[in-house]
Amino acid sequence: MFVITFHLLVFYDLIVVIILATASSKVESSSWRDFFFGNGWKSFTSNRDARILPIFTLIPVGITLCSAPSGEYGNCLPNKDCALRGGIPAGPCAGGYGICCVFLQTCGGVVRENSTYFVNPNHPDTYDGTGSCQITVQKLHPDICQLRLDLDMFSIAQPEATNHLCTQDQLLISGSSPVPTICGSSSGDHMYVDAGLGQSNPIVISVITSGTFPRIWRIRVTQIHCGSINRADQGCLQYYTSISGRVKSFNFNTVSGRQLSNQDYSVCIRTERNFCGIQYNACPDLENNPPRSFTISGNSNEEVGTMVGGGTQMTEDACIQDWLLIGCMRSADRIPPISACEDRVCGGIFSAEIGMVQKTVQSRLSSCIHLHTH
Ligand SMILES: *[C@@H]1O[C@H](CO)[C@@H](O)[C@H](O)[C@H]1NC(C)=O
Repeated sequence: MFVITFHLLVFYDLIVVIILATASSKVESSSWRDFFFGNGWKSFTSNRDARILPIFTLIPVGITLCSAPSGEYGNCLPNKDCALRGGIPAGPCAGGYGICCVFLQTCGGVVRENSTYFVNPNHPDTYDGTGSCQITVQKLHPDICQLRLDLDMFSIAQPEATNHLCTQDQLLISGSSPVPTICGSSSGDHMYVDAGLGQSNPIVISVITSGTFPRIWRIRVTQIHCGSINRADQGCLQYYTSISGRVKSFNFNTVSGRQLSNQDYSVCIRTERNFCGIQYNACPDLENNPPRSFTISGNSNEEVGTMVGGGTQMTEDACIQDWLLIGCMRSADRIPPISACEDRVCGGIFSAEIGMVQKTVQSRLSSCIHLHTH
């Protein structure tokens, strides 16, 4: 398991300033005109040739997101629509012109609204039952290519202690491109799930449970248009779009988390224009000595060093069974940089070089991290 931070690398500091400035200048629309007419209203009124536009450009477009007091996001809808569509009204939005409508589904539910939450039975209390609880997600439109799942709350039974397989509980996703099976605790994590092209089969999200455990889950399902800027690159299970952030493996916990078996997925970081690489650091672990913020086949009470490389070399320091792959990574502190680079890292200390010293690592080739565990 691992938790690392990433920072995009720039050629000139000035560029960061410009990008931050444009990112924070985004305005939130909240007037009733935006609510009912979307951005079409603005382009209509600001367009000098507005008179020649047909009047039907003023039909409402888009549904804005709103926050419910319970912590969920809802869709801001005209008052009468919320109950008709099976939602839960949760306070006013759009300055009182609409109602924040939250959509929840549990076992057996069918998702027909964007931003619907899949919750455990008895939510927000825990669920102790055995069986399979699943929801079916229908595309809202043939032009939906991905789903984003936000594991707002996610705590089901841990994998078993010997091989770390999810034998008691599982989160399973079917009808999409393959998604690794996970269990344990992963609140705050997300996944992008491929939904295929056109009017394809629905995606089924299941939580399979057995034995006694106080489970809780609340998973938000967002539908992403094929042409959306929010769409993750092909093959990326997780996708980050900020210039710095923190990436962790599923079920990461330095005290009680177990590294999940049979994982094989990519975490991608969108490299913005004018950025030239990414720098990674293992996060500090204040709870354990030796630290466990990076332990990939190095989860032991004895200190395990960095292991790198893989392929056919059966050396002691190679990553043969489990590894994190970061394309052509090098330690950041070597001046001049060493010419050789590594792709795989494992063991108990994060670095691009064999040894006992944790290091900052850079990659200028790839913007993805790939986790493989057997
Ligand atoms: C679903 O909501 C998100 C915002 O949460 C939005 O970006 C996306 O376009 C919406 N999808 C559809 C199909 O309306």
